[in-house]
Amino acid sequence: MSVAADAAAYPKGARVSARIGSNVGCPTYRSERIDSHHRIDTFRSGSWVMNRWLSGSARRLDEQGAARTFVWTGGEEGTKVLAYFTLAPHRVTSMSGSEYSIPAVLLARLALDLSIQGRGLGSQLLVDALERASYALGRSARGVIVVDAVNREAAGFYEHFGFRQVAGNPFRLYRSASDVARSLGVA
Ligand SMILES: CC(C)(COP(=O)(O)OP(=O)(O)OC[C@H]1O[C@@H](n2cnc3c(N)ncnc32)[C@H](O)[C@@H]1OP(=O)(O)O)[C@@H](O)C(=O)NCCC(=O)NCCS
Repeated sequence: MSVAADAAAYPKGARVSARIGSNVGCPTYRSERIDSHHRIDTFRSGSWVMNRWLSGSARRLDEQGAARTFVWTGGEEGTKVLAYFTLAPHRVTSMSGSEYSIPAVLLARLALDLSIQGRGLGSQLLVDALERASYALGRSARGVIVVDAVNREAAGFYEHFGFRQVAGNPFRLYRSASDVARSLGVA
């Protein structure tokens, strides 16, 4: 579980700023590991699966050390969660079924509250997730970041950012850690 634990230690500036609308304010969101003080009950992403994961599984799996969930709070919403993503350690297997021992991180879940969708924050949330995943992998040239898409539309979102489908599974996509690091400007 060191991979996801390392992601939690990622020393980035904890604040994510985003311009909402044309010139109407620039709310600032705080990106942090999920905790008991976060209000998760009101989160609505438009995806029942994503909502249920946050309310029913995220905290438990984080406490168990099985996966790390990071949330965005802030603006005028206090501790209300407005976005989240979940990272977990992962193992990459070859198409032939034999296992490679290359490090991997699974971006298992990623979602924004409906109230802040469609404003460019989805891409910022993905950058936050990829930065933490990349940091956890130690920018290994051999590492892989794998994502699970909840449906076809979500897969399109990841493809928009350069992820490619794993053969035989349209809902699982990947990018090499070195490719991601180049995109993030940290290679
Ligand atoms: C997926 C999600 C995070 C995207 O957030 P968003 O606020 O709608 O997206 P943004 O406004 O930040 O869009 C960022 C870019 O992605 C593109 N994009 C967004 N959704 C897309 C989709 N389904 N397919 C292809 N491109 C998409 C946008 O056109 C935009 O492109 P640009 O930067 O070139 O202009 C959000 O819709 C969501 O939480 N959906 C419900 C949960 C979900 O499906 N999660 C996906 C992971 S399983």
